[in-house]
Amino acid sequence: MSKQQAALIQALGAHAYVDPEIFKAEQNLVFASTWQYACHVEKLASPGDYLVCEIATESIILIRENDTTINAFYNVCPHRASRLLEAEGCKKRIACPYHAWTFNTRGELISAPNAQNVAGFEISNYRLKACRVEILHGLVFVNLDDDAESLQQLAPEMLSDLEAYAPDLPALTFVHRTEALLECNWKVAIENYAECYHCELIHKELTGGVLDMSSYRIRNFANSQKHLSGSQSGEKRVYAFEDTSATDFVAWWLWPNFSFQSYPGGRMHCWNWTPLAVDRTHLTVDWYFPNTELADWERELIRHHAATTFREDSSVMALVQQGLSSRAYESGPLMIDAEKSQYSEHAVAAIQQLWRDAMGADYE
Ligand code: FES
Ligand SMILES: [Fe+2]
Repeated sequence: MSKQQAALIQALGAHAYVDPEIFKAEQNLVFASTWQYACHVEKLASPGDYLVCEIATESIILIRENDTTINAFYNVCPHRASRLLEAEGCKKRIACPYHAWTFNTRGELISAPNAQNVAGFEISNYRLKACRVEILHGLVFVNLDDDAESLQQLAPEMLSDLEAYAPDLPALTFVHRTEALLECNWKVAIENYAECYHCELIHKELTGGVLDMSSYRIRNFANSQKHLSGSQSGEKRVYAFEDTSATDFVAWWLWPNFSFQSYPGGRMHCWNWTPLAVDRTHLTVDWYFPNTELADWERELIRHHAATTFREDSSVMALVQQGLSSRAYESGPLMIDAEKSQYSEHAVAAIQQLWRDAMGADYE
């Protein structure tokens, strides 16, 4: 199709980023029905290790039952609804702080004070409400939708690359968190992640001293996107990595709010965008390395990323959110080229289509 014949694709309307009602609806239609990253398996290494996290406004307990099984439960007591646990720790029994109903790590009720004197009470009728868990190459995901397709079916290409680029991921250890409270809607943040049209202007060091931008490409899959780029040659590099077998930049984004990424040098980090309000998003980037004793270049990689690309994106995303609130803006065109070059916004278009499919016609 020639440039003249191709129809321009229009970006999502501004209301999708500023309307609190849409933000509320997304919790059900997007976040309560997709796989949400919870933690690396090292957080739940031994039986009884637990972690409380928030998914789609629900408090969820993840707890290891045995060597092979991690369970997830809603953090709510089936007696009179008290929250059960907070933060993280290790317990073989979960005792409710209100009236001491006690559950095992399978979520079964095993004792309830005075139960023997209550006519009609059957202890086996009560348990914690479970939700689904999948462990994908050392990464623990939760889904509140009992009918959701498995993560392995939804993103098989991502799983095979995860194993190829980070074969030792399940054994890696957490070394550092880079985080920010972004002053924007979560979709502004993931759309920023999904295009490099802005990169040469906004990220001078990334494009001049880390990546070979002429090779940067983003490929759309059904529920995920792969970014792949070569790296700058030795004399131009802003940090000097040692592992010359891992010279590519690779990133996989998974609908709707998770990504893993590896910079040239082969160091893994997981991105997770948590929507807090229609115009606030908590972004965490957790780095996993072979050990906690970092080489100088590894420390420099983390510092350099936080001080340049990460900070630069945070600033520009706040500018976008401000503009989306203006009465002068409704929607603009996505700049998609036929080659799907390093400048093309085709991955933004794919994310917006996933969002439309999830939300339905009421929110167009
Ligand atoms: S609310 Fe949990 S034991 Fe009563
Ligand atoms: Fe960026």
